[in-house]
Amino acid sequence: MLNVKVKELLNDQVNKEMYSAYLYLDFSGFMGDKGLGGFAAWYKKQAEEEMEHAFKIYDYIHANGEKVELLAIAKPSIALNDELQVLKEGLKHEQYVTGLINNIYAVAMNEKDYRTMQFMDWFIKEQCEEEENAEELISKFEKYGKDPAALFELDKSLGKRD
Ligand code: FEO
Repeated sequence: MLNVKVKELLNDQVNKEMYSAYLYLDFSGFMGDKGLGGFAAWYKKQAEEEMEHAFKIYDYIHANGEKVELLAIAKPSIALNDELQVLKEGLKHEQYVTGLINNIYAVAMNEKDYRTMQFMDWFIKEQCEEEENAEELISKFEKYGKDPAALFELDKSLGKRD
């Protein structure tokens, strides 16, 4: 059995991770329309990863004898204007998710829910990686985005993400 406050936050986080998948699918479609198939594939992979995050939390809730309430997934609401703006929105979103994860950890700590704290360790580390990846995409695009040959190579390398 989980602490009520912790359970509610974890339940919400399942929804937030699924929203992240939606958001990155939207980014993927935008990049594909811009002729950047590699960026599109990268974001589609990212969307899959977000679903894995959602399932991880879903499974944890069930493993603790609780039920998950599946909430409506919001339509991605960010207006997508150009490639660099999309990349920056990705970083902003990950920083927002880091805040959510940290909050779950903080509430779990406050409630002396050591099991959930340990479970959330993985997500704390993951968020460091998520922000780093988003920052790297921005700096690479700022460096190579204006040179068609360099952008072609960058796009090709992003398309190889597995
Ligand atoms: Fe589920 Fe991108 O963090």
